[in-house]
Amino acid sequence: MIKKEDIDKIFDAVRIEEVVADHVSLKKRGVNLIGCCPFHNEKTPSFYVSPVKGIYKCFGCGKGGHAVNFLMELEKLTYPDALRALAKKYNIEIVEKELSPEETQFQSDKESLLVVSSYAQKHFSENLYNTDEGKSVGLGYFKERGLREDIIQKFQLGYSINHRTAFTDIALATGYKIEYLVKSGLTIEYRNEPEPGTEQQIENTAPKVENKYVDRFWGRVMFPIHNKSGRVIAFGGRTLRTDKKTSKYVNSPETEIYHKSDVLYGLYHSKAAIAKEKFCFLVEGYLDVIALHQAGVENVVASSGTALTAGHIKEIQRLTNDITISFDGDDAGIKATVKSIDLLLEEGMNVKVLLFPDGDDPDSYSKKVTTEELKNFIKDKAQNFIEYKAELLIKQNIKNDPLKKAEAIVSIVQSIALIPDAIYRSVYIRECSRIMEVDEQILLSELNKFRTKRFNEKQNSPAPTENKTQVESLLTLEPKKENAVFDAEFQERDIIRIMINYGDKIVKIASEDEEGNPTEAEITVAELILHELQHDNITLENLVYNSVLNEYNESLEKYHTIPSQKHFINHENIAICSLTVDLLSSPYQLSNWEQHDIFITFEEDVLKKSIYNAIYALKSRKLEMMIQDNQKRLKENPPEDEMLTLMQTQQQLLEAKKIFNAMLGRIILK
Ligand code: CTP
Ligand code: MN
Repeated sequence: MIKKEDIDKIFDAVRIEEVVADHVSLKKRGVNLIGCCPFHNEKTPSFYVSPVKGIYKCFGCGKGGHAVNFLMELEKLTYPDALRALAKKYNIEIVEKELSPEETQFQSDKESLLVVSSYAQKHFSENLYNTDEGKSVGLGYFKERGLREDIIQKFQLGYSINHRTAFTDIALATGYKIEYLVKSGLTIEYRNEPEPGTEQQIENTAPKVENKYVDRFWGRVMFPIHNKSGRVIAFGGRTLRTDKKTSKYVNSPETEIYHKSDVLYGLYHSKAAIAKEKFCFLVEGYLDVIALHQAGVENVVASSGTALTAGHIKEIQRLTNDITISFDGDDAGIKATVKSIDLLLEEGMNVKVLLFPDGDDPDSYSKKVTTEELKNFIKDKAQNFIEYKAELLIKQNIKNDPLKKAEAIVSIVQSIALIPDAIYRSVYIRECSRIMEVDEQILLSELNKFRTKRFNEKQNSPAPTENKTQVESLLTLEPKKENAVFDAEFQERDIIRIMINYGDKIVKIASEDEEGNPTEAEITVAELILHELQHDNITLENLVYNSVLNEYNESLEKYHTIPSQKHFINHENIAICSLTVDLLSSPYQLSNWEQHDIFITFEEDVLKKSIYNAIYALKSRKLEMMIQDNQKRLKENPPEDEMLTLMQTQQQLLEAKKIFNAMLGRIILK
């Protein structure tokens, strides 16, 4: 652990231009430096470094951030490792936080578990080659499955002898402590009853042995599971029996070194290929990963029977944002695919789905074709998630029921609504409109409903009253273009842009003194904006913007200070960090920073006017959205009493709009 003080020291010492210059040749351009982007191929430079702001930004591929991000991205380092590299560069001594006695114990416990696991792996591999049983049963099985010698060794496959205490006996005799054998899950300790979830309980047989300690794995071919740096942390053991009584796989339990929700099978062996190919293939089982490697496709990992988690996705995202899923075609596989699609979309990944021809899985298919054919198949036959879901749901809709079709559309739009990037969302909405033959505007309106609902749920407040079910409202919606539903994305962004660029600047506003006489008060831009938004109960729909706003609010309430630009540039939340960089480097999506600087000086001059413009633009947009929404409900022919309320609301809203417009005309620059 690196101490907070040391992290601050590193951030203070680091010069972005020096860090980048180690990797990119830079030329001076005004106050900035410019070069060819190291993250994408380009001949004309569009990669800017701003020494003043401490950030880099590529106007070609959009990547941007501070020095630590730069190293993380370029050298695929974790955050602490990037900090360590920078500390080294700037000769900053970092004291890794001293471990408490408990922490030290934990560290050495972990090391002991790794040592035991490594021993077990070697033991199982030796069984495979040096025992009669291992050779005939274990190796025989792998050969029958068509695995080559080099692949068996690459994945360190093994065999556990068909005897209940074979491994534990020899491990104890060799000097390994029972404590760690049990903690690693390799040995099971029986008290009176078999532990729940252990093999004996699964197999529903009473313990036949007198021993208190027995092996978890016996009579199985063994698949060691490696962590990212290649150390063995757990095992999966496959039975060779064909009867249904034995569960096909027994896996290590959760231990101090094995957290299933963070570990992907095959990552160690595949990470280089995933980074190189810039996409990751996600399959179901150990044998799929292994067979694909044997067939020459190495950018593959498996979630191995457990459901995909956010932790798994993070591991993949370090290497690439593009993923193709290929689970088995059975019911469980389909369910897992549909669930995984949503999770992956939510994390901002580009998801495709690959279906293998009837009855084949990656393992069996890879054995029927050449490497070339396999690679092409994976590349060309993968469908985007909309095509996949559409086909799946249409297949289930044998009777061509329109209600079922509506359900299918809702389900697809629900997935699209999870995508964090607005541009991707609109691309997929278009795609969905094409495939499902539904007007884009209807889909957009559905999409916005989901997003609003999710937003409200995240805010822990109840969703706005929605009388009809989503399916019903989808069926009754009129496909009218002038019903265009829009959001306030642009206006919200502009507010945050002003906050981050000028939050700590002082402006004068009209006020009253104690006796009620008009006077002027000084207030920071951040306070002014927060006050204006809170006055009308406005929250921002974009969650990233909203959390920036909340941080201003909290900092002001708790510490009476405005968070600095640096706070947001160096923010631990990568979305906030990259938003800040974008807002600081490209207020109006232009690509020439010198022009910006001129513009920014200009804008500072007219700061107050800009602020009120932005606030009123946002408020008027929100008002317009409410009017549109209300109007739409009116058109849906609601019952009479509801109609009456809606009409009243409509009148009030239009009245507000009138007042508002009058106000807009009166903004005066002081
Ligand atoms: N799995 C498990 N426990 C089971 C069944 C499956 O942990 N009882 C996990 C394993 O990680 C397995 C994956 O789910 O690799 C996929 O299961 P399956 O397709 O049944 O196994 P394969 O590895 O494909 O093995 P085989 O090809 O021999 O059927
Ligand atoms: Mn399988």
